[in-house]
Amino acid sequence: MSADRILGIETSCDETAAAVVSRGTDVMSSVVSSQIELHARYGGVVPEVASRAHVELLMPVVAQAVVEAGVEDREIEAVAATYGPGLVGALLVGVSAAKAMSMVWGVPFVAVNHLEAHLYASFLEEPDLEMPLVILLVSGGHTMLIVMEDHLRYRVLGGTVDDAAGEAFDKVARHLDLGYPGGPVIDRLSADGDPDAIRFPRAMAKEGWDFSFSGVKTAVVNHVRKNPETPIPDLAASFQEAVVDVLIDKARRAAREVGAKGLCLGGGVAANSRLREKLLDVCVEDGFRAFLPSRSMCTDNAAMVAAAAWWRLKADGPSPLSVGADPSLRLPVY
Ligand code: KG4
Ligand code: ZN
Repeated sequence: MSADRILGIETSCDETAAAVVSRGTDVMSSVVSSQIELHARYGGVVPEVASRAHVELLMPVVAQAVVEAGVEDREIEAVAATYGPGLVGALLVGVSAAKAMSMVWGVPFVAVNHLEAHLYASFLEEPDLEMPLVILLVSGGHTMLIVMEDHLRYRVLGGTVDDAAGEAFDKVARHLDLGYPGGPVIDRLSADGDPDAIRFPRAMAKEGWDFSFSGVKTAVVNHVRKNPETPIPDLAASFQEAVVDVLIDKARRAAREVGAKGLCLGGGVAANSRLREKLLDVCVEDGFRAFLPSRSMCTDNAAMVAAAAWWRLKADGPSPLSVGADPSLRLPVY
């Protein structure tokens, strides 16, 4: 089944987002209302606060997305929402609203996997990506090295054995009193720091496909305890360099091993300047094509949800209305 114009909804964590995307690639509108300020004072996302904020924000955000797309409600051909993984209360807000709209408008409902949505962010800007692709999916909750063999067909090579890459950025930033979320701040501060000032550990860099980031986080904490005078930009740049080195090393090795045509980034950490820069360098050196979604499509948004929904709807048809929120949903692998 196919529907050209899909309304996507994303409420899995702390962004309330809606977008209208045509044929999985043409972003007609993408509205993201961030709750960051609401959660910043707690140093992280408070699930109950997030659910309540989604309830208040979702309908205005949907209305704005439809208006900005320049379409009437009746021109929406399917409604999609992220149903997992994420915070259960937050997910339920988006899923329930999407089902209600699909019933009122008499159009299909599509339940979307948030991880698959992050992978499809790359296709929004490059619809003709050649496969196989190696995709590094790095967000606040996930760190995965994935081989995409064809549309909707994935193999997971490895993941984190402890903290996700974004979680490590957030925890280090919290320890340094830099605020939440930590990734963007560390990225910014690193521009004025020396990435070689401190040699932090690169755990599991040369072996296997899995990642571990809790050691580097502890190393930063210990370094600050022993050397409280270290300039923050040097700490930030050296920590960032250690994380990026491991991510890039493994992605490059994976791309060589599977004979990938290209290397892609997805997830919030894919907005990181140093990671993007190094991925481009590696692709030039090794002759892979590099695909970097624009920064706004790396962090949580609903355009990627509508894009993934377009492919899912074509392959599997509409989702039954009995589908509920699934907080620990995994990427479907073959
Ligand atoms: O994909 P996302 O918006 O939400 C999840 O699904 O988790 O990712 C959020 C994560 C946070 O940990 C945030 O600190 C990190 O992405 N992040 C960054 C940058 N921008 C966001 N990490 C490093 N550098 C950035 N520029
Ligand atoms: Zn995400």
